[in-house]
Amino acid sequence: MTTNYCLLSSRNCLKETDKVIHSVEYFAPSCQMKRKRMEQAERSVLVSCNSRTTEKKFLKYLSRHGDIKKHFFYESYGIYAVVEFANRESITSLLERAAIPHNSPNQQFGQQCQPQTTPPINELIQRLSKEESIDQQIISLTEAYQLTEENSRLRFLVCSLLKDIAAAYFPECTIRPFGSSVNGFGKLGCDLDMFLDLDGISGRNLKMPKSGLSLEYQMKRANSERAVTQSILSVIGECVEQFGAGCVGVQKILNARCPLVRFAHQPSGFQCDLTANNRVAMKSTELLYLYGELDQRVRCLVFTVRCWARAHGITSSIPGAWITNFSLTVMVLFFLQKRSPPIIPTLDQLRDLAGPADKSVIEGNDCTFVSDFSKIPLHSNTETLEELLHGFFEFYSTFAFSRMSINIRKGKEQNKPEVAPLHIQNPFETSLNVSKNVNATQLDRFVALCQESAWLFQQIETNTPRGLGGNDTSTPWGLASILLPLNVAGVKSRKKKRHEPASERIKSLLESLKNKNHQKKS
Ligand code: GTP
Ligand code: MG
Repeated sequence: MTTNYCLLSSRNCLKETDKVIHSVEYFAPSCQMKRKRMEQAERSVLVSCNSRTTEKKFLKYLSRHGDIKKHFFYESYGIYAVVEFANRESITSLLERAAIPHNSPNQQFGQQCQPQTTPPINELIQRLSKEESIDQQIISLTEAYQLTEENSRLRFLVCSLLKDIAAAYFPECTIRPFGSSVNGFGKLGCDLDMFLDLDGISGRNLKMPKSGLSLEYQMKRANSERAVTQSILSVIGECVEQFGAGCVGVQKILNARCPLVRFAHQPSGFQCDLTANNRVAMKSTELLYLYGELDQRVRCLVFTVRCWARAHGITSSIPGAWITNFSLTVMVLFFLQKRSPPIIPTLDQLRDLAGPADKSVIEGNDCTFVSDFSKIPLHSNTETLEELLHGFFEFYSTFAFSRMSINIRKGKEQNKPEVAPLHIQNPFETSLNVSKNVNATQLDRFVALCQESAWLFQQIETNTPRGLGGNDTSTPWGLASILLPLNVAGVKSRKKKRHEPASERIKSLLESLKNKNHQKKS
């Protein structure tokens, strides 16, 4: 007998289907959590559900190959299922019986699909307008945007699928997710950043004996490390393009500071960036995760500021002169360090709390910080989310961007070491500016929006709840009203501010096209 489903990999996961799952579990980039997720992914398969079959029959068929632990359905260019078996052998058995599927799209699975994207902004605004307080609005936005359990599983599964491809060249390699997929600040629909880890096989990080011969070998390798990374990504990129099921639009961006292969994985709907030899970014991911875990207000504020920035075109999905989500997150962290009392510690304080096992030096950069959260003393700041959001807008409305650099290592602004409109020190590679791509126009837009949002926040009509009673036509108020582009633009003209000239916008666009392939990561 043949199956009517299209298996997109030999790995998967799953979930009881009939309920809408709303998980507030966060996804630790800690080794233990990652190992669990990766192991789950290896017992899972991704299935394209093309047949006219019910869920019951689907599960009955698959369970012939072994016990199913979890499964869930989702939609992305068709209906897909992620199915986690109890044992890896089930996958071998299933693959032996798999055949090319019929192409007859079916909507029967539609009702049980788990959402994999955020609600459209209008829906979000309506939803927020019904909340009773600005704090509730911020929490509601965070809940609507954060990654779900299913989405996180799908991310690890895609890493696992890609590992199968990379293993053709590097049998013992691992592909690890980093960035917002695992740092606690990921929103549904965010890209999937992956890191090809070859340390286990290439001996890259092995300690060399101190003989002259080894030294020569080390130097040779040091000189060509970048070239090696480029060649590795080049061949993997080729494989992904030729053989990656559902991988389309493969671009090899090998001349960027951090070379990468970019592609869309259609079955999951993820935009993927694959890098190699990018350990500092893994450390930033862990640091961001740690900050998000220390106080629940951190994540809420980051989600809200990111959403606000996207709604007003401060951030963009196109690389260019815009502020990135990563820079914005660092700006929120800095602001929280500057509260009195501070809500989160500085990176230097986290380094001082580190134990011997936490020591980490990557390419000469000190990336040490404490991993045991219980050692971190917290202050008794009791500000509400509303106060903090308002405070964020006020803080950056008047920040001395022209002279000062944002520095989360010290938790204090420092004199700018170089000329750049916006200077945010890279927390680990301290001579770098994470926002060096940002031009003066984009920074001015950010500051103007902070001023306008701070002003709107103080107005009675903005901060009085109006949506009580759950009425569908509630007027936007509070956070909902500062997410409305027209509202903020309205303030701009009321205050007779200079509009950004068209020539500036065109200049930005041209710069973005020029930079597109060169400066994804700095
Ligand atoms: P979104 O994808 O926008 O949701 O956020 P992200 O945090 O995943 O950002 P992005 O995909 O751009 O980058 C992935 C990770 O690379 C970040 O989380 C950082 O750890 C790191 N990174 C991104 N941009 C920079 C940068 O400009 N400098 C440095 N040093 N690291 C960066
Ligand atoms: Mg990302």
